[in-house]
Amino acid sequence: MKTLLINGSPRENGNTFYMLNVLREKLESSGVEVEIYQLGGKTVKGCAACLMCAKNTDKRCIIKADPVNDIIEKILESDSVVIGSPTYFGNVTTEVKALIDRVGLVGMVNNGIFKRKIGAAVVAVRRAGSVEAFHAINNLFHLNQMIIPGSGYWTVGYGLKPGEVAEDAEAMKTLSNLAENMLWLMEKLKKS
Ligand SMILES: Cc1cc2nc3c(=O)[nH]c(=O)nc-3n(C[C@H](O)[C@H](O)[C@H](O)COP(=O)(O)O)c2cc1C
Repeated sequence: MKTLLINGSPRENGNTFYMLNVLREKLESSGVEVEIYQLGGKTVKGCAACLMCAKNTDKRCIIKADPVNDIIEKILESDSVVIGSPTYFGNVTTEVKALIDRVGLVGMVNNGIFKRKIGAAVVAVRRAGSVEAFHAINNLFHLNQMIIPGSGYWTVGYGLKPGEVAEDAEAMKTLSNLAENMLWLMEKLKKS
């Protein structure tokens, strides 16, 4: 079983990374192959609305000069994907939003290539706006008919400076629930 964790923060070792790393440790200890992909800080163009993906239906975006097609490939090879983002002005980072729009559209116009894969969102926040970011990420999964496991609460973690989220005990518990439910679901889906 494979899981792709995408860090949408430009802070490579910040709170989003910390939360993803908690998931990584829990999933790896149960035998899941995990990759953390560093997206934040890379140049990712927004959707050009050219609809060439719908015309070509080759599971690719026509924009080739950035990592989106590599990420599509990685999602296709994975059983589950978690997108992590810090909260920026009540939403996801620019890189994550560009990824949502382009991966989302390629998925939808290619006959549901991500259908029934597992998708989850993880959000770091200082104080407010995390639920909006959480929903923005989940829109990608919903619209692509993916399965979103619950975790007992929104998987958001509080902290400003890198690593502060470690002190958010409730976030750690929620991440633990998420890992457990992802594992359960991946096992079930593998058998189906
Ligand atoms: C440009 C920018 C915008 C931010 N906007 C918000 C915000 O709307 N609400 C909030 O609570 N924190 C906001 N923050 C704080 C970050 O969400 C917070 O520090 C988070 O833990 C950063 O995660 P990271 O360490 O993974 O980068 C913002 C930070 C930056 C740099």
